[in-house]
Amino acid sequence: MADGEAVMTETAKTYPVPEAFAAQANLTPEKYREMYAASIEDPEAFWGEHGKRIDWIKPYTTVKDVSWETGDLHVKWYSDGVLNVSANCLDRHLETRGDKPALIWEGDEPGDSHTLTYRQLHTAVCKFANVLKKLGVKKGDRVTIYMPMILEAAYAMLACARIGAVHSVVFGGFSPEALAGRITDCESDFLITSDEGVRGGRKVPLKVNADKAADIAGGMVKTMLVVKRTGSDVAMQDGRDHWLHEAADGISADCPPEPMNAEDPLFILYTSGSTGKPKGVLHTTGGYLVWASMTHDYVFDLKEDDVYWCTADVGWVTGHTYIVYGPLANGATSLMFEGVPTYPDASRFWKVCDDHKVSLFYTAPTAIRALMREGEEPVRATSRSSLRVLGTVGEPINPEAWEWYFHVVGEQRCPIVDTWWQTETGGAMIVPLPGATDMKPGAGSHPFFGIKPALVDAEGNILDGATEGNLLITDSWPGQMRTVYGDHQRFIDTYFMAYPGNYFTGDGCRRDEDGFYWITGRVDDVINVSGHRMGTAEVESALVSHDAVAEAAVVGYPHDVKGQGIYAYVTLVAGVEPDDALLKNLVQHVRAEIGPIASPDLIQIAPGLPKTRSGKIMRRILRKIAEDEYSNLGDTSTLAEPEVVNDLIDNRQNKK
Ligand code: WT7
Repeated sequence: MADGEAVMTETAKTYPVPEAFAAQANLTPEKYREMYAASIEDPEAFWGEHGKRIDWIKPYTTVKDVSWETGDLHVKWYSDGVLNVSANCLDRHLETRGDKPALIWEGDEPGDSHTLTYRQLHTAVCKFANVLKKLGVKKGDRVTIYMPMILEAAYAMLACARIGAVHSVVFGGFSPEALAGRITDCESDFLITSDEGVRGGRKVPLKVNADKAADIAGGMVKTMLVVKRTGSDVAMQDGRDHWLHEAADGISADCPPEPMNAEDPLFILYTSGSTGKPKGVLHTTGGYLVWASMTHDYVFDLKEDDVYWCTADVGWVTGHTYIVYGPLANGATSLMFEGVPTYPDASRFWKVCDDHKVSLFYTAPTAIRALMREGEEPVRATSRSSLRVLGTVGEPINPEAWEWYFHVVGEQRCPIVDTWWQTETGGAMIVPLPGATDMKPGAGSHPFFGIKPALVDAEGNILDGATEGNLLITDSWPGQMRTVYGDHQRFIDTYFMAYPGNYFTGDGCRRDEDGFYWITGRVDDVINVSGHRMGTAEVESALVSHDAVAEAAVVGYPHDVKGQGIYAYVTLVAGVEPDDALLKNLVQHVRAEIGPIASPDLIQIAPGLPKTRSGKIMRRILRKIAEDEYSNLGDTSTLAEPEVVNDLIDNRQNKK
């Protein structure tokens, strides 16, 4: 059979690994099976061995110290080992890879590009670290990074790691309110930002936002370090704000890496859940780096000469693990992109691949769907001959987008690795390792080494064979989050209470007859907009903080490009008349409270929301109406006022 032809198994269309790829792959199906079995049979031995893939200042003598019992919940790996993450990402490569490109930066404007070798990156990070020290940052301090996709964002992260400071990167698309909330939650008095960001030809006022956030955070921010990106005029506050280029003037490039315990915090990253404010997911040093580097290596079939590009933003976990820590720990060449897929045109991704001979490419299904809409021509106009592996992350990929990615972009040569994971998991968890498994479009496929998935029903009964249920992971892995920063009980409540003794992912999943896993999406009140996680509760609380709003309920609905769109039902306070201006105003309000990614796509003003007699909003009904699937609403007899449902249906906003 020729490469790129599918066969039908009992359950789904299946593509065998392209033969030419298989011939050069690091893994074979047999080797995957052997290694997986070993990782499950004796995790201590397996991770004891693979922990050695990174450099330790003092080697560990213990490997796994974990309890998932809710009374004594702790997660520790390699807990007596000592290491430094930045030394692993930089210093250890200097001898053999000093002149190898470490980071390739591609700016928003085509042609604006810059390559940095490992030696140059090492120098830049050491200088940056010395600037942080000079401005008073100490081991254990929390440093907030609110930056565009420029090299200094990576320097800042690695510089924190070098001196033992804990970074909290906040995506540059978040509003001042959202930034301030994250600054106060982890009591971070040091903020790194830039004058402005540039994306898709537009400027983003980061310093202005940072100033507003500092005001909202009421004196918490004592020092602001500002990187010049566009050179636009920005206000600098005396005594608080420092330009990086001034602070770095004459600074030494000598900065020894701080010896860190394996369980010392490396970073905090805020993520949305089904309730309350965003959680500060805490990752530590040793286990995280082992996980980041090992998954990056195996998921992408990494070879020494690869040029690897992950299109994520460093504001998300994908940017942490798969732009910075994983690739650099592996001595790989990692490309960092400032722009967007469609600027200046829909060929941009593929032109960048051609320009820099990208071989491993990793992006989100939403980007693929957006480009698919532009047709094949912008893709065909480029060569893409350097591409070897194509990855996706962030949300389920619909088979149509998968096929387009495989046939049009990769021309049947490149395996698609559909990586399922979460901010909490640190790195990829369920993934079709290239070379090791056949591919089914849309399937996460198989667990990575050490990962034990299980499917359960609502009562927690483990389900066997081909089935569908809630996805649990039944044992720890080195990259697991350690706690919710400052709130260990919330960590326990969120992930370990629903199915005691197990980690609950919040996702639904199907396992087919061939044992492939298919993630079906969130089963909690979290929606996934363009691969970004958004808590419905957060959007609701932003809406009700508007004067005109009495009540709000937010649900997801299928969206052609974003995967899920945000559908908001809103009731107004008495006397307010709805009009277009009010609707615009509500969207604007949510953008200001959270950021553009939280903008409701559809708002329905309603006289009332469907509630049970005890006052609980029946989201199931709201979801159905938002999906325009209201003919079968199920039992509505328990509603306090069944008639509100008819009004909701009559005025639904998503008529197909
Ligand atoms: C949620 C985690 C993983 C880093 C980026 C998002 C969904 C993620 C996939 C995938 C199906 C996926 C899940 C998960 N998700 N990757 N390949 N297939 N669903 O990280 O913001 O922590 O979101 O994204 O629902 O729980 P995150």
